[in-house]
Formats: sequence, structure tokens, C-alpha cells
Amino acid sequence: MPRVIAIANQKGGVGKTTTAVNLSACLGTIGKRVLLIDMDAQANCTSGLGHEKTPNASLYPVLLGERKLENQIVKTEFEGISLIPSEFDLCAAEVELARLSFETAGTKSRKKSDRHLTWLKDALAPVTKSNDYDVILIDCPPSLGKLTLSVLIAADGILIPLQCEYYPLEGISSITDLMDQLKTSGVNKGLELIGVLMTMFDSRTNLSRLVVGEVREHFGDKVFRTVIPRATRVAEAPSHGKPILHYDPYSAGSASYEVAALELVKRLGLD
Ligand SMILES: Nc1ncnc2c1ncn2[C@@H]1O[C@H](COP(=O)(O)OP(=O)(O)O)[C@@H](O)[C@H]1O
Ligand SMILES: [Mg+2]
Repeated sequence: MPRVIAIANQKGGVGKTTTAVNLSACLGTIGKRVLLIDMDAQANCTSGLGHEKTPNASLYPVLLGERKLENQIVKTEFEGISLIPSEFDLCAAEVELARLSFETAGTKSRKKSDRHLTWLKDALAPVTKSNDYDVILIDCPPSLGKLTLSVLIAADGILIPLQCEYYPLEGISSITDLMDQLKTSGVNKGLELIGVLMTMFDSRTNLSRLVVGEVREHFGDKVFRTVIPRATRVAEAPSHGKPILHYDPYSAGSASYEVAALELVKRLGLD
């Protein structure tokens, strides 16, 4: 059964999408079969893999019950990566989820009344039951709204990217508290923190080192040993529609994501 990993942090600009795209590429080239799901209406994963935004190609029609999730999967030109793209219509998902939770509030049938929480888990079930993928990575939007909540309910694990910047831990308790709540309430007992990945490390400053130290003190072994450097090439790659591994394979940024992918494989027991 594939592992379902949410790449989440309610802050924007911390490297969620960059991590989702680049880990997928690195996992793909070492022979892992990856399904990458773009859950952000910004669709940066989609464009970062060179895909056009296409009407009805996202998970929105799946949320509406009009399409099956497995029919929204497309192949990418990159080894080992399949994609469920995003596009602007996902903006409406939060509203639809709010409407669903309101509409089903008085419903007696548990299955029906939980649909606004479990729609993604249910829609993913045929894929998670199949043996088509080793890992399913889900790039979350920068909020802890209902869309992210449905991802955390569908996931086995969370990977949190943290930027090597001031106050990296600020607000982090919102997501770890939410995780604990999902576990203790039994909504998602198995949810596990897979790791914290430090991104945009700037070796020229003391700040980056201080920040990594502080985060290691807080999260201990949960922090990936690999740290992703701040690198212009990593930031450029999406405008060419390519992961860094394909855009500039011999760069430091590419090497760091390759090592992080190997670490992820170990953490997930996929080696
Ligand atoms: N390692 C890195 N080096 C340089 N720029 C980076 C790096 N990681 C991310 N960026 C850039 O930082 C910005 C935010 O990253 P992104 O992955 O989109 O964050 P999020 O998905 O959390 O909002 C983007 O412009 C991205 O290109
Ligand atoms: Mg993003």
C-alpha cells in the first residue's frame, strides 16, 4: 500500500511546493512510483512540472462527486511521477466544503455527515488499495482550512517544510496541535509526523545555523539531517517547468533534494 504524505505548513513561502516537486522527481528517478497531488489553487506544482492549467483537471470535480479521483491522474514527462493537477477552480473547494459541512450537519448517517472531512480519503481509497504507487505526496495550500484538513485526514504522515528564517517555529503548534487532535479524537489515529525539512538554508549567515539549531532542539530526530540550501537554480527551475534534478542535476540544490529523498525513503521504510 502506498504511503500518503501531506506536505503541509500553514505559512506560505516556506518551500512546500518546491519540496513536493523536487522530492517527487528524486523519488521517481530512484525507481519509486510517485503520485503527486496538487491541492493548492495556485497550481504551482502543476506549472512546476510543465503542465498547463486545464479546466476540470483538478480534484474539484471529484469533490463535487462528478468524477473519480483515479480518472484525474495524468502522466508527466518525468520518470516515475504521475500528477493530479490543480487549477483555479480549487479556490471554490473551501466554500464547497463549508457548504457540505453545513448541509450535512443534521444528517443521521455518519458516512454522509462526515463527507466534508472524508471525501478525499474516500476518493483516494481505490488508489491506496491498488499497488500502482509507492508514495502519494500531497502539496497543501498555505492554510489550515478545510482543504488541508481533508488532506490530513487522508494522510498517513505529514512532512513539514520550515524555512531557515526568523521565528520558524512561530505558528507551528497550530499544525502539530491539529495533528494531535486528529489522532486522539480517532479521526486519523495513524497520522504520524514523518519529518521536518529545513529549507532555504543560507550558509553565509549565522541566522540559518541558529534557526536549524532551535528547530532541532524542538523536534529532535524528526528533523531531516539533510538541509536544503537557498539556491537560485532551485528558484529558477519552476519557470522552466522542471524539477531541479532535471533542470540542473549537478547543482547543490539538486544534490540536497536527492539526499532528502533517500532520507524520506528510509523514514517511510520504502528501502
Ligand atoms: N531552496 C530554495 N532556494 C531558493 N529559493 C527557493 C528554495 N525553495 C523555495 N524557493 C523559492 O521560495 C518561494 C516559495 O517557495 P514555495 O515552494 O512556493 O513555498 P510554499 O509552497 O510553501 O508557498 C518560491 O519562489 C520558490 O521558488
Ligand atoms: Mg505552495
